[in-house]
Amino acid sequence: MTFKIAVHSFKGGTGKSTMTANLAVSLALEGRRVGVLDLDLAGPGLHVLFEMKPDEIKHTLNDYFLGACTASDIAIDLTDKMHLTRGKLIFVPASFKAEDIVRVLSKGYEIGMFRSAIDVISKMYDLDYMVIDTHPGVEKSTLVSMGACDLNIIISRMDSQDIFGTGVMLEVTKVLEKPQILVANMIPPGVDKEKVKARLETLFGTQVITAIPFYTEILRALSSEIFVLKNPDHDFTSTLRPIIEALELKASLQ
Ligand SMILES: Nc1ncnc2c1ncn2[C@@H]1O[C@H](COP(=O)(O)OP(=O)(O)OP(=O)(O)O)[C@@H](O)[C@H]1O
Ligand SMILES: [Mg+2]
Repeated sequence: MTFKIAVHSFKGGTGKSTMTANLAVSLALEGRRVGVLDLDLAGPGLHVLFEMKPDEIKHTLNDYFLGACTASDIAIDLTDKMHLTRGKLIFVPASFKAEDIVRVLSKGYEIGMFRSAIDVISKMYDLDYMVIDTHPGVEKSTLVSMGACDLNIIISRMDSQDIFGTGVMLEVTKVLEKPQILVANMIPPGVDKEKVKARLETLFGTQVITAIPFYTEILRALSSEIFVLKNPDHDFTSTLRPIIEALELKASLQ
């Protein structure tokens, strides 16, 4: 069975795509067979993190939703490109062409088609995990992916707008009766991350699985690499450990 995870936040720029890509690669490094899918149809970004050249992407999720190709056409095996000697990494891109973005956003897509694509690709590659990146806020992709997933990761920064929005996202997971884990990201320098964690836990009445500091090294990497691959000994890599352990545990109980 493929354990499906969606990464959400209410506000943009909280680190969803960075988290999605780095978690997917971290799980593959553990020897897992992992799919990673870009459902941020309005603002796709994973192709940049995976350093995809235009000619490496033949078909996208947009083509599939618009009926121009099959689900099996949109999966790209990045295992060798990422020099992964264990596990598997399968990438499902969204189109970054303005015309394709406008077409899919104006025409919409069927929820059933999304679920079917995940099923087909998961079976095709015998995936242990599928990690899904989403658009910020509460919109169709939020509900579609939350509904289809076994677990939602909600990311929050410390900004008051984010904290307000995180409350909204947690409410949505409750309404959809979906489990979630909460991650605090970009803790400002000089702020005690354990205090932040405790404050959020009290505020939301739920555990914060990890509190990740703001690392200038990540910002300086300019979203042009998978940070955990290039920097296995960096603190960021160890701050992801509690998430990976929680995913492994939850997937094993599935
Ligand atoms: N812990 C961190 N410390 C410093 N910079 C970070 C951290 N996490 C992410 N970033 C940086 O923040 C920026 C936004 O990250 P990312 O694109 O992953 O956010 P996002 O939530 O996917 O944004 P959007 O909502 O626009 O899709 C990127 O430049 C990324 O490198
Ligand atoms: Mg993003």
